Amino acid sequence: MLIVLSLGGSILAKDLDSDRFLKYADVLRNISKKHTLLVVTGGGEAARHYIEAARAMGADEVTCDYIGIEITRLNARLLAAALGSDAYPEIPQNYVEASKAMNSGKIVVMGGITPGQTTDAVAAILAEFLRADLLTIATSIDGVYSSDPNCDPTAVKYDKISPEKLINIVMAIEMKAGSKSPVDPVAAKIIERCKLDALVMDARDPALLGKVLDGEASKKSPVSCGTWITTRK
Ligand code: UTP
Repeated sequence: MLIVLSLGGSILAKDLDSDRFLKYADVLRNISKKHTLLVVTGGGEAARHYIEAARAMGADEVTCDYIGIEITRLNARLLAAALGSDAYPEIPQNYVEASKAMNSGKIVVMGGITPGQTTDAVAAILAEFLRADLLTIATSIDGVYSSDPNCDPTAVKYDKISPEKLINIVMAIEMKAGSKSPVDPVAAKIIERCKLDALVMDARDPALLGKVLDGEASKKSPVSCGTWITTRK
């Protein structure tokens, strides 16, 4: 199976703990023995700090995005370093390069591509481009809720939702100041247009990520966790 994984910077690069990078690398290495794997890393705290600094200096939002992209690519380089010879040695700068890199048989690791989105969108576009079997958005939230659970105590979590419903939820959350949606609106739209199966899950525990990816990807023993975005009944 072909798996595209969006690995949130907030879970991978927290405190730049090298042990954490190595643990995720071990899990990804195991998955790649059975499946073709492409990983898109997020920027996490470092990206936020750099963007805040640039904004405070009066930088425009596109410049801030370019700064964020650089940090996501740095995290990609770090993860590739942790994967050693199992990683493709370059960080693809666009989707065509990623597609070519995939043919090497190595794990492809990349970061952001273009301003105005996050790495969730990069992962969704890559999954669409490569006709991936599965897109996994690995984050620090345990799934998609009816509204932002940090702002609304009545928010309920979904085990499974349609892409159309995801778009409605994401747009409603994005309209509310201070709320953060679990999936980037661009990613939600891509998931809807290509009818891709996607899983949003809490992957702060690398071992759980491995279990879920293996179970879900092989469909042998699906581990129920997070929220499935699917058109299937
Ligand atoms: P992230 O994908 O890390 O955003 O990109 P995030 O929502 O903060 O995700 P976590 O916390 O890592 O899970 C960091 C920033 O980089 C820019 C955006 O400014 C984004 O907020 N970026 C990233 C882009 O402009 N384009 C991209 O393709 C990717």
